[in-house]
Amino acid sequence: MNAEPRGVSARARTIRPFVVMDVVARAKALEATGRDIVRLEIGDPDLPTPDVVVRAAEVAMEQGETGYTQSLGLPDLRDAVAAHYADRYGVTVDPANIVVTQGTSPAMLLLFGALLDPGDEVILPDPCYPAYPNYVSFLGGVPMHVNVRAEEGWRFRIDEVEAAITPRTRAIMVNSPANPTGAVMPPEDLAALAHLADERGVWVASDEIYHGLQFDEDEHTVLEFTHRSFVLNGFSKAYAMTGWRLGYVICPPGFVRACEKIQQNFFLCANAFVQAAGTVALTQAQGDVARMRAIYNERRQYLVPELQRIGLRVQAPPGGAFYVFCDARHWGEDSLALAYRLLDEAGVAVAPGMDFGPGGEGFVRVSYAASLERLREGVARLEKWATEHGHL
Ligand SMILES: Cc1ncc(COP(=O)(O)O)c(C=O)c1O
Repeated sequence: MNAEPRGVSARARTIRPFVVMDVVARAKALEATGRDIVRLEIGDPDLPTPDVVVRAAEVAMEQGETGYTQSLGLPDLRDAVAAHYADRYGVTVDPANIVVTQGTSPAMLLLFGALLDPGDEVILPDPCYPAYPNYVSFLGGVPMHVNVRAEEGWRFRIDEVEAAITPRTRAIMVNSPANPTGAVMPPEDLAALAHLADERGVWVASDEIYHGLQFDEDEHTVLEFTHRSFVLNGFSKAYAMTGWRLGYVICPPGFVRACEKIQQNFFLCANAFVQAAGTVALTQAQGDVARMRAIYNERRQYLVPELQRIGLRVQAPPGGAFYVFCDARHWGEDSLALAYRLLDEAGVAVAPGMDFGPGGEGFVRVSYAASLERLREGVARLEKWATEHGHL
């Protein structure tokens, strides 16, 4: 599948490249030649980490919080996560069931590492965040894709999920608000999936990393609907902390020790002063989260109608995260080729939909983790390109 030299392990070969990172590299190369590129390809907040969080890390470092912590994470942070889930959603989480990680990404290794034996299956939406199938395959599992469709608001059809369950199914993965679509799962869908999972004896794994960035309706955690679940979450998006590397997994009690052992051996612990700052993020930065959410919402309200005006189809406008997933088939069927053309010819970087699975082909993902000024410039360039190429 990948052009890799002989000797590279079969396991490593199962990993598909993260194509958007190749787009990033090309955008940076063009910038290095002096070209101005409007960068709308990655999900990295342009807004700075809230001051109160930065100060907390500084204080923690000054106070010498620079050593290893418990592999499970600092008790204060685990308590703060539990309190956050109680305040926000009214659910009871035992801090003993929380394992702190260096971002949501390593939490996926703990989750799938603790859950999967070779040949075990995980049901994933297609399109979805590309790391999910890669983690599953890397650990010997089998990703089972179930289509979600723009015209249906990117919602799972429960009967299709049910039909995909086999004796080897271990988990159903949900991600709301979702990357790449920004779609929000209605609570009745979460309830129906939880019910199905309970009935069929499989787990629900819920990636809640975009919580805090949902615009229109109340947020719901899977824990409101079932305890047969794992929650993945982190600080990268809502708290604008991508580079800090902090996240966690909330596990069923029987899986805590397995996750702890993986964490102990592979990572030891998350950075001590980052964990201290994470506690402050949860307890003192909710106002900052609301402020940043309002900024993203303003951008969303500008961007979605503008993209539609210049001919990109957005059948299911996003309800959260900071992405618009646009049907661009009439600009070019091959989303990778189109992304490179838009980059080279229009000077606008977007993510090709094929990166998110076969169900994303023909789409491009536009990130609005960029200022309104840059979004306006990006739209103007795309409009000019579409006009010049006879698409408008
Ligand atoms: C759905 C989803 N989950 C997880 C991650 C990774 O987050 P982290 O920075 O916490 O590792 C991302 C990053 O883009 C994401 O979109």
